[in-house]
Amino acid sequence: MTKYVIHGGKPLYGEIDISGAKNAAVAIIPAALLVDGVCRIENLPQISDVTLLLRILQELGADVRTVNRTTVDVDCSHIRNARVPDELARKIRASYYLIGALLGRFGCAEVPPPGGCDFGGRPIDQHIKGFVAMGANVDVHGGYIHAKAKQGRMQGTQVYLDIVSVGATMNIMLAAALADGMTVIENAAKEPHIVDLANFLNSMGAEIMGAGTDVIKIRGVKRLSGGTYSIIPDQIEAGTYMTAVAAAGGEVLIKNVIPKHLECITAKLVEMGVEVEERDDAVLVRRTGKLTRTNIKTLPYPGFPTDMQPQIAAVLCLAEGTSVITEGVWDNRYRYVDEFRRMGAQIQVDGKIAVIEGVEKFTGARIQACDLRAGAAMVIAGLAAQGTTEIGCIRHIERGYEDIVRKLSGVGADIRVVVTPDEDKQAQVG
Ligand code: EPZ
Repeated sequence: MTKYVIHGGKPLYGEIDISGAKNAAVAIIPAALLVDGVCRIENLPQISDVTLLLRILQELGADVRTVNRTTVDVDCSHIRNARVPDELARKIRASYYLIGALLGRFGCAEVPPPGGCDFGGRPIDQHIKGFVAMGANVDVHGGYIHAKAKQGRMQGTQVYLDIVSVGATMNIMLAAALADGMTVIENAAKEPHIVDLANFLNSMGAEIMGAGTDVIKIRGVKRLSGGTYSIIPDQIEAGTYMTAVAAAGGEVLIKNVIPKHLECITAKLVEMGVEVEERDDAVLVRRTGKLTRTNIKTLPYPGFPTDMQPQIAAVLCLAEGTSVITEGVWDNRYRYVDEFRRMGAQIQVDGKIAVIEGVEKFTGARIQACDLRAGAAMVIAGLAAQGTTEIGCIRHIERGYEDIVRKLSGVGADIRVVVTPDEDKQAQVG
């Protein structure tokens, strides 16, 4: 078993470089399927979700060459296969983008249902509604989602999303880039990674207008050709380190960010007594005094991101007074609360609402990461805690954070990866 061992209670000082955005990368890699030529993708985060998606493209027949640590060349010109391998795709949520991309490229797709973090139900009905409106038949049998464009190619149309969905917005964009005619997505999501996917596709020859607003128009083109594209910095990785400084104290310059994307997080930290100074492509985060309570409601962008909810909860646990979190996106994103309670937190959850009574400190404990952001929040709690925290199931964290141990060690955290072979054997036996 591999775990993180953290000796907490040390403030953080120094600089952290932010990697490319996971949730942009996991859409841009499938988007390379639409391109007839070599796509050079730069600023890719080195995380297991990216490795998996690149392996899936290779299994489909793509030529994937590593240029350097953060850059790959992907050539999907010779792919003829639209059936995605089962065991790889089930490990990752973003495998659903392969449906839109393969439908766009071949007019058909066979993709296993997506995996990913468990937040209660994670339907993809809005994705399917979009594909059907664009002229596809979609059904599930034999453990696969089968989608086929009735006229051989996807047809441009108007799609009104019943719910603001990041995944459905991007998937419909992928299916529409090479479609016949114009597709209009109404009530579209506006996250920075949606703009990034549109910019990637446009840089390869697509005609997408309005990304970042709630109406996106995609005029289908005949062909996308190769080019070079650099992925935006990861808003959530940056926010995670901002909250780490807020919880543990200290002063850290968080570099290679787009401060505008962080405003929703910055505003809340400032309300809590954290100092945040914006620079051109960095933010300086300082926390020396006490933290004060606040309320948070998670919402689609530009609201406070649900992917920062567990991390900000770790900070609120240490703030004076009573704070209330309302989870506005997912049905069940409080699975980390029991683990926080082991560390001394006082949290009551009722449905989508969590009420947090601030405590003086966390105390170290043995805990398990239950999903990606919850795992990151447990690291934050461990950094601020008195004593030693051991976090298991760290594979969840490594799905989305590049080099988290090295980055935190670089600002003075006492965090190590520990492998215990005996426990590994026990786990296999059990
Ligand atoms: C993306 O998931 C992100 N994942 C999630 O980040 C993030 O939490 C979420 O967007 C919201 O920002 C990736 O980008 C890979 P949605 P996605 O479709 O696209 C409901 C992380 O930690 N819904 O915007 O799956 C859904 O149940 C991950 O990095 C439908 O009802 O989320 C939810 O309540 C975790 N029908 C809401 O919409 C649908 O067809 C938003 O989901 C689709 C969604």
